[in-house]
Amino acid sequence: MGWNSWNYFGCSVTEADVEAAARALARQGLASLGYRFVNLDDCWQAPKRTAAGELAADPQRFPHGIAALSAYVHSLGLKFGIYATPGAKTCGNLYNDYPGHLGSLGHERQDARTFARWGVDYLKYDWCKADRDGVDAEHAFTLMRDALAATGRPIVYSIHSVPEQPIQSWRPRIANLWRTTRDIKDTWSSMIAIARANAPLSRAAGPGRWNDPDMLEVGNGGMTPAEYRTHFSLWCMMSAPLLLGNDLGLDGEYVGIVANSRVIAVDQDALGAQAQVVDMSPDRIVLSKRLADGDIAVSLTNTGDSPRTLAVSRARLGLSSALTDASDLWTGARSVVSGDVVRAEVDAHATTVLLFSHGASSATPAVTLIASQPAFATTSTPIRARRGTATGR
Ligand code: GLA
Repeated sequence: MGWNSWNYFGCSVTEADVEAAARALARQGLASLGYRFVNLDDCWQAPKRTAAGELAADPQRFPHGIAALSAYVHSLGLKFGIYATPGAKTCGNLYNDYPGHLGSLGHERQDARTFARWGVDYLKYDWCKADRDGVDAEHAFTLMRDALAATGRPIVYSIHSVPEQPIQSWRPRIANLWRTTRDIKDTWSSMIAIARANAPLSRAAGPGRWNDPDMLEVGNGGMTPAEYRTHFSLWCMMSAPLLLGNDLGLDGEYVGIVANSRVIAVDQDALGAQAQVVDMSPDRIVLSKRLADGDIAVSLTNTGDSPRTLAVSRARLGLSSALTDASDLWTGARSVVSGDVVRAEVDAHATTVLLFSHGASSATPAVTLIASQPAFATTSTPIRARRGTATGR
């Protein structure tokens, strides 16, 4: 859990932006909810390596250098992450005219040592068409994994997807998380397509190895509050990394979404089981997630354009008859549900998340739950535009 510069700042990110994000995580109480990584994405580098062959920071946008930035982030009790690639170029060099050939090809051990010296706690190692440079993905991602391990510093290792190769094959052996899809955009259609692609991959996920359906767009202004709640709910059901991708000078309503500790607890559950797909018809996504204490979280997403009642049998949700108490993790409403079918009225593009736990009394009469949607404003007015110009892929 944390924040990453890319979705909002793109290639224009500065030292001041990263410092402000770190302060905001601490000030807004997000850090205490678990958002602790402050990850600087692409375009931090100077166009050329130093005479010693080391990566260096862009002197205009990062005048104090990366070690100082990392120390500042650490001084707030947070962790610091950075970005690199296994080929000759980063994605910024390839797609966004960012100057230089700044990939780690041929510099893997040196770059890992530099990162460790700078106090890096998390590396995003992004593919960026490294096959063009004759790089084999499994080999290259393993090389950096070993180079990081050789530094002796614990560093979370995040790798990108190579679409041609099945997710399950070698990634869980090498990385802590791996991207499963192309880049997210701040639109309903992009977000929901990514959820549909990532949801069936639950078998590959588990503690210390996670499917990564990309960073969050909550708060960037391209979706309605209901759609952002759906985005956040699905990511938590899928045990996804929760990396905020917005300018953290957030409007309160969006903080309310990403700070919902009940939904975060579903994401962070100790069992580490990604939700199973129960129904992925064109008009709905229904997921069921087993939790460490025997509870089950169920999400019912209406992907259609008008409100509807979603009904699923308890059996399909994997709900034993003992799991009768349901709390709606967005409204906080509690109910007793012991009928054979779970129903929820769900607005267009909205999601109800229900946590089922063991009932206090088995003598309670059967009730069918009709969950209602939370009373949030439904404005679709963008709150903030992105600042970066490099996010158009
Ligand atoms: C790729 C990644 C993005 C981001 C950019 C940076 O597109 O998928 O998340 O890191 O590169 O250039």
